Amino acid sequence: MYTRENADTFIAERKYLMKEEYRLAFHLMGEFGWMNDPNGFIYFNGEYHMFYQHYPYQPVWGPMHWGHAVSRDLITWRYLPVALAPDQAYDSDGCFSGSAIERDGKLYLMYTGHLITGPDKDHDYRQNQNIAVSEDGIHFEKLASNPVIGPDQMPAGLSQKDFRDPKLFERDGAYYAVLGSNDGQGNGLILLYRSDDLVNWSFAGEIARSDGQLGDNWECPDLFELGGRDVLVMSPQRMPSQGDDYQNLHSTTYMIGRLVVGQGSFTYDRYEPVDYGFDFYAPQTTVDLKGRRIIMGWMETWESEIPTQLGHYWAGAMTMPREVILQGESLAFKPLEEMKAYRRNGYEASGIPLSGVRDMEVRGDCYELEVVFEAGQAVEFGLKLRVSGDEETVLSYRQDDGLFRFNRDQSGIGLGGERRTKVLLKDGLLALNIFVDKSSVEVFIQGGEKVMTGRIYPGTDSLGIQAYAEGACSMVSFKKWDMK
Ligand code: FRU
Repeated sequence: MYTRENADTFIAERKYLMKEEYRLAFHLMGEFGWMNDPNGFIYFNGEYHMFYQHYPYQPVWGPMHWGHAVSRDLITWRYLPVALAPDQAYDSDGCFSGSAIERDGKLYLMYTGHLITGPDKDHDYRQNQNIAVSEDGIHFEKLASNPVIGPDQMPAGLSQKDFRDPKLFERDGAYYAVLGSNDGQGNGLILLYRSDDLVNWSFAGEIARSDGQLGDNWECPDLFELGGRDVLVMSPQRMPSQGDDYQNLHSTTYMIGRLVVGQGSFTYDRYEPVDYGFDFYAPQTTVDLKGRRIIMGWMETWESEIPTQLGHYWAGAMTMPREVILQGESLAFKPLEEMKAYRRNGYEASGIPLSGVRDMEVRGDCYELEVVFEAGQAVEFGLKLRVSGDEETVLSYRQDDGLFRFNRDQSGIGLGGERRTKVLLKDGLLALNIFVDKSSVEVFIQGGEKVMTGRIYPGTDSLGIQAYAEGACSMVSFKKWDMK
């Protein structure tokens, strides 16, 4: 029987088994066992709350619970008891993803109940939407009237089983939830529901649907206002790649457009990837105390082996929190200012000529870099991180194709591969802000115009940092801080 108490006891009794080797220093991970999507991201009662899809009993996906952590600065997190367990008839095969909202001083969670209905668990299932409420932000009571949106409230002619991941928001004095689904013919879509009290819900429209290029099911939608525009972020499953973009099994895209709740419509012109790397999925946003829109994603990829699943007793991490900024007709993503409080042992060098490989004479497995390259005549230039012997993680730029590359073919154990994305130099300069944290690399390119995220699993003594150029270029500046 899955209960919150059983989950907490299990974690407390076995936590000592967990191996630290690849645990991250300034990222949120599950307390033990498995973690996927961020859920219920909100500021409530003086702290930021982040919940997460959680299977405590093994480092593999299983009947979903909601893990729970709180933070004052979105960087250092403290675990709280498991918030939801699949302990009801309507959610007995999992409490799937969802979100949070505050009403009359209480914290409301809305989540998807998952039910397996036949012998093939990948195809025979139903999903419904439920509410759990808390006064203290720690202990949650599921409503007696759950489910609050049942499959009978799905429009006819669509998938009658994929119906999940409600994201709550307020608009014009009413509550709304966006949900992911598909048309049963291979196209993902988003449904909008409306409520006055978070308990009674009515269908308000299908607001977006794939044009055939955007995946066969859409997960984890998030719809928010930014700078007078409406932004939809969602995660299409099995989206076909387009050139260098959308190379992962599942992707995450954003669209800037206009939501008209009365018409149940969202119009947009184009879509873009949220992250150009290997490991970024199912993000969720919230607004912080300073009014910033903050996004965090699951820093993994579905259906691939994660090295810590064998013998480490944990798997899954979140990305750093990133500020979402509207820059013209695009979004930029920036590290939070708060990260600067974690900088230690600053090192700085400037005006460094580069031709061939240069050891930067600083080392580490948990650090931040701010590097500006002046491309000059170099064919290719970049950085090699987590270096020792044959091991290296390469971030590079080539002038002939204008592509920035993140290559992890020699990063250690775990998956290899390369991701590429077009980057324009600015006055001949390339600015990188890079965060390395034990088993992760996040690269903010040209002030966050593009971000690339990937997990790597190098040896513990792969600590070297090198810069290199084919041809000649220079590093205008190189700054490094240890983190924490
Ligand atoms: C996305 C997702 C969600 C679902 C959850 C289940 O990663 O598939 O659609 O609610 O994970 O854990």
